[in-house]
Amino acid sequence: MQLLTFERLALNLTLSILTYRVAVSTGTPVFVKTGEDLFLDVKKNVTITKGSDFAWKFNGHRNVVKYNGGQPYHFDERAVFSVQTFSLLLKNAQKNDSGDYFAYYSGDKDNVLAKYQVTVQDPVSAVELTVESETDSCNLSVTCRTQDSHINVTVRCVDRTCIQEGGGPPNVTTTGASLHIYLQNGKIICNYSNQVSWERNYKKDFCLQNVDSEPGTKTTIIGPVIACISLPIICIVVYLIRKTRNRKSNCAF
Ligand SMILES: *[C@@H]1O[C@H](CO)[C@@H](O)[C@H](O)[C@H]1NC(C)=O
Ligand SMILES: *[C@@H]1O[C@H](CO)[C@@H](O)[C@H](O)[C@H]1NC(C)=O
Ligand SMILES: *[C@@H]1O[C@H](CO)[C@@H](O)[C@H](O)[C@H]1NC(C)=O
Ligand SMILES: *[C@@H]1O[C@H](CO)[C@@H](O)[C@H](O)[C@H]1NC(C)=O
Ligand SMILES: *[C@@H]1O[C@H](CO)[C@@H](O)[C@H](O)[C@H]1NC(C)=O
Ligand SMILES: *[C@@H]1O[C@H](CO)[C@@H](O)[C@H](O)[C@H]1NC(C)=O
Repeated sequence: MQLLTFERLALNLTLSILTYRVAVSTGTPVFVKTGEDLFLDVKKNVTITKGSDFAWKFNGHRNVVKYNGGQPYHFDERAVFSVQTFSLLLKNAQKNDSGDYFAYYSGDKDNVLAKYQVTVQDPVSAVELTVESETDSCNLSVTCRTQDSHINVTVRCVDRTCIQEGGGPPNVTTTGASLHIYLQNGKIICNYSNQVSWERNYKKDFCLQNVDSEPGTKTTIIGPVIACISLPIICIVVYLIRKTRNRKSNCAF
């Protein structure tokens, strides 16, 4: 009875030391999309000798794979362990596979050979973009909306130049996805992204006053001017090409 209590105490102590070690220096961050495979490697040469063994551990004390030179033992049937590289492949990662993983070597000393902080994320949902104008002006209220977040800004357009007001920081959800809204090359863009995916939605020609070229604006003049200048040039070029072709064929025969 007393021995049992002592053993448990010793075990608890070992576990808390391990957990402490992992907590103190968190591992390399790794992000995986739900359903994809998680690959973790050791990046060190490991030699298993008599009395030593190796394990991939999850969240401090749960063994995923154990290896002591014989047949590796997989505690999770989705795990694939390489006895050549000591890497771990966990197939079909699920969100509850998120956590700390470490490659643990035990010989005359205990060693943590590699640490990873794994996050398994679902891809982000689609994002909806709505543009509403007050009356017929180019003062626009723009909203990006997803299942669990939204963001809105005001866009004002004057003489083909649009500026965004009240941009502010992106809206970051509890699941770590962030929702951005911005203007780029005459488009209003919503970008919803997390570490494993992104979804975008955009609108062009959102300010009709800007698209219908008003009389007197540069486009109305530039268009015909370009046509007047380029037409003769195109004719001359076509004429020259034909001429050289003819000459070439003359030479050939
Ligand atoms: C592992 O061993 C091989 C051959 O012994 C060596 O070329 C390689 O650099 C070693 N890798 C590391 C990470 O120590
Ligand atoms: C993780 O979730 C899957 C289903 O998504 C479930 O089958 C499995 O038992 C869970 N694992 C743990 C350790 O909770
Ligand atoms: C757009 O909003 C600004 C600021 O509120 C205002 O000064 C301007 O007159 C508005 N423009 C139109 C066309 O309504
Ligand atoms: C982010 O989205 C949530 C949910 O739609 C909303 O309650 C919150 O006010 C938004 N935050 C910002 C800064 O817009
Ligand atoms: C966002 O929308 C809310 C309510 O619809 C409004 O009160 C607020 O002024 C808007 N913010 C911007 C920057 O347009
Ligand atoms: C959306 O945001 C993500 C993360 O910042 C970025 O990798 C991606 O290129 C962005 N997409 C677009 C179309 O801007």
